[in-house]
Amino acid sequence: MGERLKGKIAFITGAGMGIGRAAAVLFAQEGARVVIADIDGKAAKETVARVKTERGEALAVTGDVSIEADVERMIADGARHFGGLNILYNNAGVLWKDRDRSVLETDGQWWDRVMAINLKSVFWVTKYGIPHLQRGGGGSVIMMGSVSALVGFTRAQDAYTSAKGALISLTKSLAIQFARDRIRCNIIHPGIVDTPLQAPYLTDELRREFAAGIPLGRIADPREIATVALFLASDDSSFMTGAELVVDGGFTAG
Ligand SMILES: NC(=O)c1ccc[n+]([C@@H]2O[C@H](COP(=O)([O-])OP(=O)(O)OC[C@H]3O[C@@H](n4cnc5c(N)ncnc54)[C@H](O)[C@@H]3O)[C@@H](O)[C@H]2O)c1
Repeated sequence: MGERLKGKIAFITGAGMGIGRAAAVLFAQEGARVVIADIDGKAAKETVARVKTERGEALAVTGDVSIEADVERMIADGARHFGGLNILYNNAGVLWKDRDRSVLETDGQWWDRVMAINLKSVFWVTKYGIPHLQRGGGGSVIMMGSVSALVGFTRAQDAYTSAKGALISLTKSLAIQFARDRIRCNIIHPGIVDTPLQAPYLTDELRREFAAGIPLGRIADPREIATVALFLASDDSSFMTGAELVVDGGFTAG
């Protein structure tokens, strides 16, 4: 057990699996108490069980991050249970390569749904979460962007890409607005990560293709993104706000 988040309370969306789960376990190993927010209640409870095997403390709250009432309730329940919030990690997101494609091929309903889950969710989480950080004397807000927001791809997911791009602007706006409240806000841009989100698409052929295109020669493990989130959540990044961290094995450097 480390102490980099000792005494902190973290609210992590989409912590039922993938990167969010890895972050929940890592944050707890570093002393944080963690609110595990996910639409999948069973998955959220499994993450709580993982945290507990590390002798950490976690609470599962279930709801849809795109729905205002759900987010308001999950934030309130988490803050009441642990006595406040210091870290908001906006991790939940969906990538639906079958329904979200080029603008020419995407139905409006799927555009709206991807935007609601990947972008509007962050509006709700920060709207209801930031007052708790202010009351606690400061904190850290972390966004999940993507390399998709930084470069174009011929295999397009235009709603996903647009939502992630908008998060860059929101990150900077929140960073400036709340700096004097000692609230920092930064965004991580992962490259491809081996999680349930990618699993339906990661054929052996595609894995080989990705590995060949990534200078470090492989896709990332979720923990390799969670460690960067830990850095942004902790005082190790105390002079960073409004920043973008690209964690992509060198993909966008090429
Ligand atoms: N995996 C990658 O290659 C990759 C790359 C770049 C960015 N990202 C971003 O990282 C974040 C996490 O991705 P992941 O790969 O761990 O995903 P994942 O699918 O493995 O896990 C996402 C979690 O979010 C939850 N979730 C989905 N919709 C929700 C909703 N409406 N309300 C509440 N919870 C919901 C899911 O139940 C799941 O537990 C996402 O924002 C994603 O866009 C992932």
